[in-house]
Amino acid sequence: MAETENHAPAPAFIRVQGLQKAFRMGSILVTALAGIDLEIQARTFTVVMGPSGSGKSTLLYLLGGLDRPSGGRIEISGQVLDNMDENALAVFRRKTVGFIFQSFNLVQSMTALENVEFPMRFAGIPGRLRRSRAMELLEQVGLKERIHHRPTEMSGGQQQRVAVARALVNDPQLILADEPTGNLDTSSGASIMQTLSELHRSGRTVLVVTHDPRMQHFATHTLHLLDGKITNHDTFQETAPLLVES
Ligand SMILES: Nc1ncnc2c1ncn2[C@@H]1O[C@H](COP(=O)(O)OP(=O)(O)OP(=O)(O)O)[C@@H](O)[C@H]1O
Ligand SMILES: [Mg+2]
Repeated sequence: MAETENHAPAPAFIRVQGLQKAFRMGSILVTALAGIDLEIQARTFTVVMGPSGSGKSTLLYLLGGLDRPSGGRIEISGQVLDNMDENALAVFRRKTVGFIFQSFNLVQSMTALENVEFPMRFAGIPGRLRRSRAMELLEQVGLKERIHHRPTEMSGGQQQRVAVARALVNDPQLILADEPTGNLDTSSGASIMQTLSELHRSGRTVLVVTHDPRMQHFATHTLHLLDGKITNHDTFQETAPLLVES
């Protein structure tokens, strides 16, 4: 095929130019992102760091199409987000992005299986397929024995693994995780990190906001934010690291 013969460098998977976000609080304008330029290559694992209020969550939300910038441009996998209407943005989120939040965001009245199946309804996947896919993903995150449990009947680490399985239902290219281990004990946190690392090594592009220095062990890049600006964008290794037992 012609595309395998392409010798020009591939355009970055994420291209951000002059990205700004301000929030109006009454008469005050709060600047969350003060003009960010950023390129992130496909199949990288970026750890996003910075003090509280530096704009980390805001950046992830904008990249995930969960909120709109005040200025600037975001292109992900060749798709320009600022040109999209709400429907197009919803399709982008569904097809391209898997979002993992600190607070899990599971539906409390639904079992693990139902929580994972839920987003597939909007993708028009038939019922039986939804079920088998959800089972497969829950098995993949080690929750085969907990599929009929509701969130209140699971540990924090198990709930977060349900959230990870749910983020993967539509096989997203881009995984965005905002402090995914923040609410977890050490060993549950380590297991989520392993899972994110496996997703990276299976070819996904991963961005994780975290205060946990152990996450750097899995990263190819680190991105430091301060006052809504990038202060540092370091490369550890260009390619995915091999799986090492820790
Ligand atoms: N919805 C909002 N309305 C008003 N201000 C906001 C809103 N969301 C964020 N901000 C402000 O924007 C700035 C960046 O917030 P953001 O949530 O991105 O920080 P953060 O780096 O994720 O911090 P933390 O580590 O505490 O989660 C902060 O000053 C915050 O108060
Ligand atoms: Mg945050």
